[in-house]
Amino acid sequence: MICERGVLIPRPETEQFTSHLGTGCIPLLLHNLLSTAGMSSRILGIDISLEALRLSKRNLEHNKNALLANVREDIEFFHGDVLAVDSLVKAIGEKLQGVEVVISNPPYISGKSFNISTGRSVRNYEPKLALVPKDGNGDIFYPAIGRAAERLGSQAVVAEVGGWEQANRVKQEWEGSGAWEGVDIWKDFAGIGRTVVGWRCGWEWIRDGPDVVSYRDWEE
Ligand SMILES: C[S@@+](CC[C@H](N)C(=O)[O-])C[C@H]1O[C@@H](n2cnc3c(N)ncnc32)[C@H](O)[C@@H]1O
Repeated sequence: MICERGVLIPRPETEQFTSHLGTGCIPLLLHNLLSTAGMSSRILGIDISLEALRLSKRNLEHNKNALLANVREDIEFFHGDVLAVDSLVKAIGEKLQGVEVVISNPPYISGKSFNISTGRSVRNYEPKLALVPKDGNGDIFYPAIGRAAERLGSQAVVAEVGGWEQANRVKQEWEGSGAWEGVDIWKDFAGIGRTVVGWRCGWEWIRDGPDVVSYRDWEE
């Protein structure tokens, strides 16, 4: 993976999420895992940052020989604002007929936490746009992600969060929306709640964690 200024620095605590799901690394890894399990996929990677999009496209080219031959047709990166749900859903609808799963690692650190609890390397070298939403406690993306997934008719929604408190708030929010059959929290390898997942009927298997994707295929 090529990494440069304008995107986040890979760190040990995001390693687990990255290695299971996926700057462009989520679509690239997801495509690779699904292909390895014999499943085909069409993946859209959406970001508001032109720098992140440019680097994602470079990483797609950079890895094309290590990935399956059709990866360049299966993955598309495009510019969009996740908070503008109506136009986002419309733009996605013009590209894909239905979206099974929405996966997001949005900015989720509150402005206050950014100032008091992040390290100097984060504050000095990482783009604030990737880490800190404009308002409040850092949660503003999650209702929009849930609504977009619901409007797209997705079977599941998966989003990274900063820890237990935020995980519980997001779980409550998605449960309250009534759109999901179930909502649960995946822990990272340090035992911290780092991913919230919601599913519709028939997709209960997803609650058991990211590895399940490979044995769903085996069960069928
Ligand atoms: C925590 S980073 C995750 C980056 C990448 N998805 C990954 O997992 O490696 C959050 C990303 O959200 C993007 N972003 C910030 N505001 C956004 C918005 N309103 N709509 C879409 N993307 C946004 C940032 O540019 C950044 O690339």
